[in-house]
Amino acid sequence: MSNTKNPRPVEAKGKLGVLTPGMGAVASTFVAGVEAVRRGLAKPIGSITQMQTIRLGKRTEHRAPLIRDFVPLAPLADLEFGGWDIFEDNLYEAAKKAAVLEPVLVEALKAELSRVAPMKAVFDQAYVRNLSGPNVKKCATKMDAAESLMRDIETWKRAHGVDRIVMVWCGSTEVFHKPNAVHATVAAFEKGLKENHPDIAPSMIYAYAALKLGVPFANGAPNLSVDTPALLELAATTKTPICGKDFKTGQTLMKTIIAPGLKARMLGLNGWFSTNILGNRDGEVLDDPGSFKTKEESKLSVLDQILQPDLYPDLYKNFFHKVRIDYYPPRGDNKEGWDNIDIAGWLGYPMQIKVNFLCRDSILAAPIVLDLALFSDLAKRAGMHGIQEWLSFYFKSPMHAEGLYPEHDLFIQHMKLKNTLRHMMGETLITHLGLDYYEGEDAE
Ligand SMILES: NC(=O)c1ccc[n+]([C@@H]2O[C@H](COP(=O)([O-])OP(=O)(O)OC[C@H]3O[C@@H](n4cnc5c(N)ncnc54)[C@H](O)[C@@H]3O)[C@@H](O)[C@H]2O)c1
Repeated sequence: MSNTKNPRPVEAKGKLGVLTPGMGAVASTFVAGVEAVRRGLAKPIGSITQMQTIRLGKRTEHRAPLIRDFVPLAPLADLEFGGWDIFEDNLYEAAKKAAVLEPVLVEALKAELSRVAPMKAVFDQAYVRNLSGPNVKKCATKMDAAESLMRDIETWKRAHGVDRIVMVWCGSTEVFHKPNAVHATVAAFEKGLKENHPDIAPSMIYAYAALKLGVPFANGAPNLSVDTPALLELAATTKTPICGKDFKTGQTLMKTIIAPGLKARMLGLNGWFSTNILGNRDGEVLDDPGSFKTKEESKLSVLDQILQPDLYPDLYKNFFHKVRIDYYPPRGDNKEGWDNIDIAGWLGYPMQIKVNFLCRDSILAAPIVLDLALFSDLAKRAGMHGIQEWLSFYFKSPMHAEGLYPEHDLFIQHMKLKNTLRHMMGETLITHLGLDYYEGEDAE
């Protein structure tokens, strides 16, 4: 199927501002990485927008341009960075404290990173119990806070000569909440903002401010933020792309790689035990049971959707799934995860897989921030709005339309992402159907 009716994305003209609420380990690693790539000090490994090619047309055509040469993405040279945090550290100081990158690289980028200082945050300790900081706005109501954020965005945009803006939530994980009446409509939400409703989280106030201004919003944490009916309604009204939730990095990335393979081979699953230790500020926040509950919900949902126990009760009914995260300061950002996977083969014979992943959390998350910023901006220029399910690839807990299930299988997500790009540019979608097996048909 080729796309003849959708308009092509308009060209990326001028600078793109990337604003991150939260300027900690992930945000500083992302910005430092882009600066290092711009200066030719390193390669953008892990970034689909920068490194991956896309096959176009039939295999015999040998057309496989880089994605960044195929769709009109903002070039790295045109990115400007800013954000908010409850601490006053600029990104140079934040990168030093996060200790993700080698000091020699951070020092080499000192001038660029020191220039990015946080604006005053909208914060409520009821939502992140283990943190408190001095760089916080004092507003009488949550609506005042939202209006203050909108002024920040407009002022920052003028001051940096930026044409377009995207927002990527890189703030701490907020405590677990289910949506309720105050999140049901824009009218109810705005009334709640004016009346300081306790169920409106800071991340929702950032999302509201972004959407009011038509700024695409991507949510890197598992908290609801933009994933409520009220903010979906606002995204539809202001024609703004949104996506979330929770960057898919270490253990869940591995889960969504391994589980589709087990299912493809019709191997059964009896249990999957996952445990992690990490010692960064994220780990400290997740030490609070409220924030951990949000993360746990996000991590647990993955296997059920991929394995479809309803369709395959003999293989996947009642498998035991447990996820643990423990805060262990000596490890810093260098997380270690262990998975014990109890699987079943022919005639039910049990086998085990052990995975020991020594990963670097923010190193895996940083290229996701870059890709989400560039793809969200592209979506906006292509006239797309609402939930961008084609970006599910990047999330542990992908947002999805009501009544549909989220797609967790990394390989289906990947195909959907690339086919969306092909569709956007009027190219034939790739189905991998080898029609040349049939006499008289062309190879795909
Ligand atoms: N690192 C990963 O691989 C990964 C993967 C998935 C999700 N995440 C999520 O991304 C987020 C950032 O992770 P990180 O490792 O950078 O954490 P971090 O603790 O280093 O940084 C988060 C920053 O957000 C700030 N913050 C908290 N509430 C805020 C608010 N209301 N407004 C502005 N700033 C606020 C904190 O002060 C902190 O500096 C976390 O929610 C984490 O769960 C990270």
